[in-house]
Amino acid sequence: MNIALPLPRIENAIQHDVLQENASLLDGLLQPTARIDSKYFYDDTGCQLFNRICELSEYYPTRTEAGIFRRYAWEIADVLPSGSQWVDLGCGDCGKSREWLHHVAPERLVGVDIAGDFLQSSLIEVAAHNPEVECIGVVSDFTRDLDLSTLLSECPDAPPVFFYPGSSIGNFARADALRLLRNIRRNCGKHGRLLIGIDLIKPVEILEAAYDDAAGVTAEFNLHVLDVVNQKIGSDFDRTNFSHRARYDCVHNRIEMQLVAQRDHRVELGSQTNRCFRAGEHLLTEYSHKYTPNGFRDMLIEAGFAQCQFWTDPYQWFGVFLAEPGQ
Ligand code: AVJ
Repeated sequence: MNIALPLPRIENAIQHDVLQENASLLDGLLQPTARIDSKYFYDDTGCQLFNRICELSEYYPTRTEAGIFRRYAWEIADVLPSGSQWVDLGCGDCGKSREWLHHVAPERLVGVDIAGDFLQSSLIEVAAHNPEVECIGVVSDFTRDLDLSTLLSECPDAPPVFFYPGSSIGNFARADALRLLRNIRRNCGKHGRLLIGIDLIKPVEILEAAYDDAAGVTAEFNLHVLDVVNQKIGSDFDRTNFSHRARYDCVHNRIEMQLVAQRDHRVELGSQTNRCFRAGEHLLTEYSHKYTPNGFRDMLIEAGFAQCQFWTDPYQWFGVFLAEPGQ
């Protein structure tokens, strides 16, 4: 028997200005230290590579966060409002949210992601397995701007719970991270919550191994961004001219992923311009910030949250905060 299921509602909140996007990509490549925004990692191949990273023995964050969620799910769910609107920021396949649905029984699941096609198929899946939850997709680059007020106000009695796991916030430099947290705070209203995962500071060897695994999957992930850039702006980056490097910067408390030029060479950046790379010169592809529990709590307070609860694993490698606005 074939039962046709209603398609989940998808809202498009993205302003796709390809010209402007490509101009800012090019601008980054022409900076004294060339840089590529980490959002470019995640095309289909990049998403698959990232999923493989999450399975690596060296890459502890995904597994450790899952452990915290498993161990404290009921305790956390207990302090969350019921009948909420569960908003998954960067939901991907909604895999992490699905684990939460039976704990929190939200009225709605709002999946926000930049990858529209993927979002639709993910939500069809979730909706099919959770008919009691209204599933809505929002295609958005929420790192640029986040305004879900219209959507959320459709259910005024269902407070939003923002779910931002995986230490994705770590990609942002402090000022940008704060801007995003403030945005979330604004969208929370009075009764909303933010449930967020953050990676904690730990010995450098563990950190650097997590971003430079023995099997070379992270290296492949990093080099792959050059293919994405070539496709976007018609540049001719040759990945054999670069090698992967991951360094922990203990002043800024962040992993820096770089691509280091192996020889002097020139790269055409589309038809208009080019850039020379010297052997040893690097291109910056990602920051991954690490926090102390107190340091991150201060950021939450600075962003306008009033109360926070914190959970961690036995090694204190990863942390989960539940933040609320306060009255
Ligand atoms: C998805 C941003 C959380 O910073 O650990 C993993 C991305 N980069 N390995 C991280 C990533 C290299 C990941 N985040």
